[in-house]
Amino acid sequence: MSPRLNLLAPGVRANPYPHYAELRRSSPVCQVDPGGLWAVTRFDDVTAVLKNPQLFSSEGMRRATCPSWLEDPPFAHSMVVQDPPVHGRLRALVGRAFGPTALSRMEPWVRNLAESFAAQLPAGQPIDFIDAFSRPLPAGVMGELLGLDVSLQPRFARWADDLTSTSSVQPGDTRRMEQIRTTVREARGFLSEVLAQRRRRPGNDMVSDLIATRVEGDALTEAELLSFFFMLLIAGLETTTHLLNHSVRMLIEHPQVAERVRADLSLVPKLVEEVLRFEPPVHAIMRVTTAETELGGARLPAGAWVLVLLGSANRDESRFPDADQFRIDRPGPQNLPFGHGIHFCLGAPLARLEARLGLESLLSRFSAIASRGPVTWNLSLSVRGPRELPVELLPG
Ligand code: HEM
Repeated sequence: MSPRLNLLAPGVRANPYPHYAELRRSSPVCQVDPGGLWAVTRFDDVTAVLKNPQLFSSEGMRRATCPSWLEDPPFAHSMVVQDPPVHGRLRALVGRAFGPTALSRMEPWVRNLAESFAAQLPAGQPIDFIDAFSRPLPAGVMGELLGLDVSLQPRFARWADDLTSTSSVQPGDTRRMEQIRTTVREARGFLSEVLAQRRRRPGNDMVSDLIATRVEGDALTEAELLSFFFMLLIAGLETTTHLLNHSVRMLIEHPQVAERVRADLSLVPKLVEEVLRFEPPVHAIMRVTTAETELGGARLPAGAWVLVLLGSANRDESRFPDADQFRIDRPGPQNLPFGHGIHFCLGAPLARLEARLGLESLLSRFSAIASRGPVTWNLSLSVRGPRELPVELLPG
C-alpha cells in the first residue's frame, strides 16, 4: 500500500497539482495527512458534497475555529459554521450587503484606493508585491467597509493570522492561547466601538445597513453582527491578497497573455476567472459527515472529517479540457474557487471587483512585471499562496 499523501509536505505545497491528479485517477476519495482527513478530489464529488449540507455538515468549520479555550469564540455565530436552517436565516439578513446595489456603491472608492496604492509603487527596483500592493489593497477595502480607522490596517495581518490559527495551537501552549485571546479582545473592542457609533449616528455604509436590515421583522443580534464582521476580516483579506498574487504570477509566466490583456483591458475579467480556476486562493474547505456514507467508491464513517479540495476540482480534466493549461479564453465561469451551494462565497463579486480594479491600475501604469526571486509557499491547508513575491515593475 502506498504511503498517505501529506498535503503539507513542502514539495506538495510548491506544486500540489500532479498529486491531486494522481488522487483523482487512483483514489478520488481517500485519507491524507495531516490527520487522516478524507480528501475529495473530483469535480463531481466536490459539488455533491457541497450540495448536501445535511450529510456533510459545516460543523467541521465550527470545530476548526471555535476551540473550548477561547471564551466567546469570534466565529461562533457566523454563517460559515452553521447548517440549515440557522444558516439560511443569517444569509438572508446579510445577503444585500454584497449585492449589485452595494457593489456599484463600492466601485468608485475601490478604484480610487487601487489607483492610489499603484501610484505609490516604485518602478525599476525590486519590491515585495505582497507588502507593497496585494495586502494593503484588500486591507484598505475591508477597513473602509467595516468603518475601522486607517491607522488600524497594519494590525489586520496579525489579527487574521491569530484568528485563523486557533486549530493549530498545541494543547499545552498557554502563551499562544493568551496571545490569541488578547487579539480577539482587541479586535472586538474596535468592532464594538464602530457598531455603537453607527447605532448612534447611522450613515450610508455597510455597518449601518446591516444594523437596519429587517427580514420579516427579524434582525441580526449584536453577537451575530460582531461574528459577521470578524468573519469578513478573515474571509476578505488573505484570499483576495492571493488572488492578486496569483494573477501577477500568471502575468509574469505568460508574457503573451500579459501583452494581450494590457492592450485590451476589457480582457481583465477573463484573466481573473482563469486565475481563479488555475490557481485558486482557497484550496480546501472542511465538512464533517453526519452519517455513514459512500462517496467516490469509498465508505466514510459518521463523524469523518472531509477535506473538500476545490484546488483539485478546478483542474479536473473531465470538466476542463487541457485543465493544466492556463487559457483565458475558456467559456464562462464554470470554476469552483468560491465553493458551491448554500455557502457559496458571499464576497465573490467584491473579490472579482478588487482583482479587476487592482490589475487594471497596474497594467495601465507599468509596461511589464518581472520576477526578482523564487517563491516560497505558506503552510496552510485551506488558503494557498506565496509568503513573499519579489518582483520589479517596469516603467510604462
Ligand atoms: C478571492 C477571494 C475569495 C475566495 C477565493 C473566497 C472563497 C470562499 C469559499 C470557498 C467559501 C465557501 C466556504 C464554505 O463553503 O465552507 C467562502 C465563503 C464566504 N466568503 Fe469568501 N472568498 C473570497 C473573498 C471573500 C471576500 C472579499 C469576502 C467578503 C468581503 C468573502 C466573504 C465570504 C463569506 C461571508 C462567506 C460565507 C458564506 C456562507 O457561509 O454562506 N469572501 N469564500
